[in-house]
Amino acid sequence: MEDLIKSLPVRLSITVDSYKYPDGTKALSAIDLKIKQGEFVGILGANGSGKTTLLKIMDGIIKDYDGASFLDGKDLRKLSPREIYSKVGMVFQNPDDQLFASTVFEDVSFGPVNMGVSNEETIHLVQKALKAVEIDHLAKKSIHNLSYGQKKRVCIAGLLAMGHEILLLDEPTSGLDPMGEYKMMSLLNKLNKENSVTIVMATHSVELIPLFLHNLYILSRGSVTRGGKPEEVFTAPEDMEDVKLRLPQIAELIYKLKNEDALPFSKLPLTIGEARREILKLYS
Ligand SMILES: Nc1ncnc2c1ncn2[C@@H]1O[C@H](COP(=O)(O)OP(=O)(O)OP(=O)(O)O)[C@@H](O)[C@H]1O
Ligand SMILES: [Mg+2]
Repeated sequence: MEDLIKSLPVRLSITVDSYKYPDGTKALSAIDLKIKQGEFVGILGANGSGKTTLLKIMDGIIKDYDGASFLDGKDLRKLSPREIYSKVGMVFQNPDDQLFASTVFEDVSFGPVNMGVSNEETIHLVQKALKAVEIDHLAKKSIHNLSYGQKKRVCIAGLLAMGHEILLLDEPTSGLDPMGEYKMMSLLNKLNKENSVTIVMATHSVELIPLFLHNLYILSRGSVTRGGKPEEVFTAPEDMEDVKLRLPQIAELIYKLKNEDALPFSKLPLTIGEARREILKLYS
């Protein structure tokens, strides 16, 4: 799988030497990221570290930065919104920034209708998308009356109905209940594996990252400080505290058992499954 990704084409190449918001806030610097076809990449960082800003640059919304960015080899800042949106879809962090129609069905059908899809096909796409995020029973409901987690799901359904090749997701699991969070990650994983959708997601969910993501970049005060596979990034609690993050809880426990109680673990497991195997090894 990894060798395969190495040889795959770069879809998004993002270099930001510096970006300041109009009020002078320095939001990003020294960013150099390449997102390859079929990757499922996480951007992990504390509040205010620049995750949303970076995704907005990837989506071509923010343009006035020093640097250079390319989508499939073409200058991202010179592409029209239509050219970008034909390939790239973004889910905003706050669903109220994204949803605008009066009912769930209308909102999710907006993309397909706008792309000239027939009525019959639109109904099919919308139903499939709503089902995927388990809100098909809410199709006729007014957006205004939805709960936060339900709104998040509508946003994702809207994206699914469009069938983009590249998805940018700003904290897609925030506000979802624990089962919803896990299912959302499983759904994204399925899109990535079965439909080769390239996914970049900003997240705080350290627990879910090792289960699903290929690569992860840590953003700290606007710069990427570390990057690599989850096991290369989640190495020690101190490294994470520096960037106001923490290890997955199971990794923290094993780290303490190894370093403070001298239990002979050979590696630091990041998931319950890996930890279980490592513990059983100690007893075999
Ligand atoms: N429109 C804006 N104008 C001025 N400063 C902004 C604007 N949007 C964001 N910022 C600032 O830019 C920095 C990065 O913000 P950003 O929203 O990208 O962080 P984030 O990592 O997404 O945080 P969170 O985890 O809270 O969503 C912060 O210091 C923030 O205050
Ligand atoms: Mg954000």
